[in-house]
Amino acid sequence: MDHQAKPEVRVLDAADSALPLLLDEVRSVLQARTEGGDGTAGNRPLISLATGGTFTAFFRALDAEVQQGRIAASDFVGTHLDEYMGFEPERPGGMVHELLLRCPALRGMLARGSFFRVPCHGAEGSLRAHEERLARAGGIQLQFLGIGRNAHVAFNEPGASFDNGFHVTTLAESTRADAKARFVPDQPPRRAVTAGLKSILGAERIVLCAFGSGKAEAVRAMLQGEVGSHCPASVLRKHKNVLVLLDPAAASSLDLDAIAGANC
Ligand code: F6R
Repeated sequence: MDHQAKPEVRVLDAADSALPLLLDEVRSVLQARTEGGDGTAGNRPLISLATGGTFTAFFRALDAEVQQGRIAASDFVGTHLDEYMGFEPERPGGMVHELLLRCPALRGMLARGSFFRVPCHGAEGSLRAHEERLARAGGIQLQFLGIGRNAHVAFNEPGASFDNGFHVTTLAESTRADAKARFVPDQPPRRAVTAGLKSILGAERIVLCAFGSGKAEAVRAMLQGEVGSHCPASVLRKHKNVLVLLDPAAASSLDLDAIAGANC
């Protein structure tokens, strides 16, 4: 019995081959607005970014597109998935700090109020206000996602409820270990503010990338294991418009024949 939606899975020859596809995803939401919109600022699509090594090359590529005028930063509104607890943008190691470093074009958006930061102190009222702000902007049209070794998405660690909105969470030890390098000589934080799985499922389209053999088991569990809170990424099988981009190493534990529509 399988009532779940099937993510589209594409196994690329290498991680870099994802770059033009990711930029096309951005262009396509901007294009849809031009064709269908009334041109008012309220109609700009909202694009939500994931941070981390998986997207470093994409941020640089996006920045180059904006600097060279092929994508206009004024054509969309931006946001992101998560932030370490208490990390303001100027604090190294933080998600917004990383985004601004890799994609300086976002600085202008932040200054103009067209990039919505996740409230990093996690006060309940600020999280609900953030959700309302996203809703007022029309909701997230395009959500980029990475995946953790333990199959977390954003910072929804194994055991996270499928019904959560933005909330404060405690990071798994494997997540902290993977983040260690960005905080040396300090210890990685223990807590973060994150979009919940319900927030993520609210996006119109989701594009998840996973590269490298370290992600292979998480990718298998996401696409071919049981759907459940033990595997947060498996929630994506409840969404009807998901694209998963993998390199061969990240796809190496999958039974590709069993994935209908797998494009290898
Ligand atoms: C970061 C985030 C995380 C990462 C995941 C993979 O905003 O939401 O879920 O996407 O930990 O991280 P990398 O890409 O560094 O392997």
